[in-house]
Amino acid sequence: MEDLSLHILDVVENSITAGANRIEIRILEDLKNDIFSVEIKDNGKGMNEDILKNVTDPFCTTRTTRRVGLGLSFLSQSAKEAGGDLTVASKEGEGTVVYACFKHSHIDRKPLGNIVDTLITLIAGSPDIDFFYEHRRNGNIYSLDTKEIKAELEGIPLNSPAVIKIIREDIKNGLKDLS
Ligand SMILES: Nc1ncnc2c1ncn2[C@@H]1O[C@H](COP(=O)(O)OP(=O)(O)OP(=O)(O)O)[C@@H](O)[C@H]1O
Ligand SMILES: [Mg+2]
Repeated sequence: MEDLSLHILDVVENSITAGANRIEIRILEDLKNDIFSVEIKDNGKGMNEDILKNVTDPFCTTRTTRRVGLGLSFLSQSAKEAGGDLTVASKEGEGTVVYACFKHSHIDRKPLGNIVDTLITLIAGSPDIDFFYEHRRNGNIYSLDTKEIKAELEGIPLNSPAVIKIIREDIKNGLKDLS
């Protein structure tokens, strides 16, 4: 996978499959401590101990269409290649937290890539799920919560083209202001 936004899309797909109705994505860029981290938290069905223990092993999957699950093992590999690591915490019936950290300046740290498209794909594709996105860079912070947006829309669908356009602009401008 070329960039981290595609890893994020992949990991969030797991949360959607797990039946989550709220998914929180947090990105932290701490240049002083040379850290880039991504946290994805969901309130889906969680994992049992056996799956959790092996989840970064490419042969661990509950999918039935193929024998290997690649999402988390790929991300784990990408984190390790960039001086970081992946940790997964999960509780059955409560949800899952996936945390990946990287050395920000590491030559093999993949770029974030097109996070705007990733978020729009998720929001437009699963409008019934509440998505929270937070991006911190040093002291600055951008955040978006589709639950709050929905409350203001008074019945207009979140995935209507006009609303999606506004959300896209908001993310784009918010992230521009961070840098
Ligand atoms: N957020 C989550 N909630 C519940 N279970 C999860 C979650 N993320 C991963 N899992 C479990 O861990 C397994 C491995 O996940 P992983 O993303 O690595 O592979 P996969 O989703 O099975 O296959 P792929 O990502 O290649 O399509 C999944 O099959 C699922 O059982
Ligand atoms: Mg997966």
